[in-house]
Amino acid sequence: MDSLTRVPGLLYGGDWNPEQWPEEVWAEDVKLMTEAGVNLVTVGVFAWARLQPDADSWDFGWLDRLLALCHAHGIAVDLATATASPPAWLVRAHPQVLPRTADGVRLEFGSRQHYCPSSPAYRAAAVRLTRALAERYRDHPALALWHVHNEYGDHVAECFCARSAADFRRWLRERYDGSVAELNRCWGTACWSQQYRGFEEIEPPRTAPGPANPTQLLDWRRFCSDALLALYRAERAVLDGVSPGVPVTTNFMSMAKSLDYWEWSRHQDLVSDDAYPDPADPHAHVHAALGYDLMRSLGGGRPWLLMEQAPSAVSWRPVNLPKRPGLYRLWSLQALARGADGVLHFQWRAAVAGAEKFHSAMLPHRGTAARGWRQTLRLGAELRRLGEIAGSRLHGQAAVLLDWESWWALELDDHPSARMRWPELLRPWYSALHERGITVDFVPPTGDLDRYPLVLAPNLYLVEPATADRLAAFVRAGGQLVCGPFSGIVDRHDHIHPGGPPGPLRPLLGLVVDEPWPIPDGTATVVRLREAPGPQELRAVSWSEWLELEGAEALAHYDSGELAGRPAVTRHRHGAGSAWYLGCHLGADVGRVLDPALAAAGVVPQLPGLPAGVEATCRLAADGTGYLFLLNHGSAECRLPPVAGTDLLTGAELGAGFTLAPLGAVVARLSPATTLPTTDEEHV
Ligand code: GAL
Repeated sequence: MDSLTRVPGLLYGGDWNPEQWPEEVWAEDVKLMTEAGVNLVTVGVFAWARLQPDADSWDFGWLDRLLALCHAHGIAVDLATATASPPAWLVRAHPQVLPRTADGVRLEFGSRQHYCPSSPAYRAAAVRLTRALAERYRDHPALALWHVHNEYGDHVAECFCARSAADFRRWLRERYDGSVAELNRCWGTACWSQQYRGFEEIEPPRTAPGPANPTQLLDWRRFCSDALLALYRAERAVLDGVSPGVPVTTNFMSMAKSLDYWEWSRHQDLVSDDAYPDPADPHAHVHAALGYDLMRSLGGGRPWLLMEQAPSAVSWRPVNLPKRPGLYRLWSLQALARGADGVLHFQWRAAVAGAEKFHSAMLPHRGTAARGWRQTLRLGAELRRLGEIAGSRLHGQAAVLLDWESWWALELDDHPSARMRWPELLRPWYSALHERGITVDFVPPTGDLDRYPLVLAPNLYLVEPATADRLAAFVRAGGQLVCGPFSGIVDRHDHIHPGGPPGPLRPLLGLVVDEPWPIPDGTATVVRLREAPGPQELRAVSWSEWLELEGAEALAHYDSGELAGRPAVTRHRHGAGSAWYLGCHLGADVGRVLDPALAAAGVVPQLPGLPAGVEATCRLAADGTGYLFLLNHGSAECRLPPVAGTDLLTGAELGAGFTLAPLGAVVARLSPATTLPTTDEEHV
């Protein structure tokens, strides 16, 4: 078994903040945890001030007692390094710990995450605390996992203080090999007389009268991700040195813009994620699936851990809806369906004071009489029944290219349209695939494409010639590539490629873009498919392009507006494969264009013919056992065809067909002979 930690089976539990409670309550906590089947708790996330009440005094007694209590009850501990909330004494002794906004405003003490990533005082104190914890608890039998910091980039992802400016200059010197002439060239400082005579003249992109230099902004984003990563790595280095062999993670925030998670995931022993899908959003489960597929991909397909979710409502949206009965269970099973080996929460016991007192918890304010508590018990019992799936994996049938640098560059200011945002471009593509029952992996531009018959690039605004070459080789060898609009625009310095878009993708796509043609808000352009089963009319929103074909064939034309009659969607045969291009943003209609590419790639749903709203995935264990998840996100009961297997949740044999209630779920252990189509069995 490929266990994430030393804890066998699936992980169940959550953030426990015992420092907010008198110790008498702890005994009840562990008793109830045992009842619920909790086997992993995250401890100490915001306990810095309690652990180190003063610069030179430490208080570990309570944590000693707590860990002993956990161990005595068979509950393993994900021990946090507690560095996300610097205490008042540190901030008062070293006010430079506090971060500054782009406007120069110093963010005050009184919340959390109030630190400047480049502050030497903060870093030294964080490393010292990490070392103290590691030295004290490295051999503790309850310790299963180190939890570094908490959600890097949450609240404060950048700081514009003088110390950060100095650190930025140091980073720039390295990036540009000490040559300010090279920096001037790459930043295009000839525009608006921005030339620098030396690195010492450079500042972070603080609030300025007008648009900032885009390459400066792009480098700033790179720097900010690196600066936080350096902090993480400083803590991690201590843990590796003092407590080798204990896995280390820091909790990610799903598809978060500020950190390049490809780079970050290289330094995680296991990828963990915090996910808070909104019960008010009817598509929340699709967005959640997207985040979960990303987490699995960041870990190279290995099982990952849902570190935090809410048992019911959160407290930080303007209106916080609870999860209606059944939703919590269904969404928890969804994380497992997409490769998680555990479901943890924020938080174990509902707080009575502080900023999060209205946040739901596994043990609600009403205690064991609450509906929520029954849900906690039920899920715990069900996860125990599903224990054997731990370590099994699932694999995407197609790849989606994701590049944080391209995302950052795409969303810089002063573009033809401010509507071209990566999440909005990606989501309709992902939704179309989800609706068709196709599971995807995310892949970085440098990733391995050869295991996939189909690669999707909803947007590749920033593309280097090397990436274009790799994509061309993939298509030549028989792959299908589908590329979305506004791609191939700039290089890594955010300079427009010679000859205009799609730059180095031009020979592969067999076309050139004469001019982008954004579509005004609230209007749509009709796009007509040349051949299609079913309706041929689609609607483009936000974006279209004037395309000139250079070998590509048009699969769809604009049928209204100024581009009427011009090509909108194309395909270019290249070697043994094809490169498809969408010159417009098709929003919810994009699936109609993806269908022929899926067909050409031979990518079919793992379980064809499922009712709408039913999500299906299959995890495969190393011994070849398949686990089929069927989750009904819809509001109607549906009848499903026979499955040769047993539902692990109920023990029912599914060979005669079965019914899935709204929000119902089945996790079937498939009979040995059952084969579902997969593209990648050898990777199991
Ligand atoms: C997360 C955070 C937790 C808690 C939670 C509430 O972002 O890591 O500490 O605040 O949100 O939903």
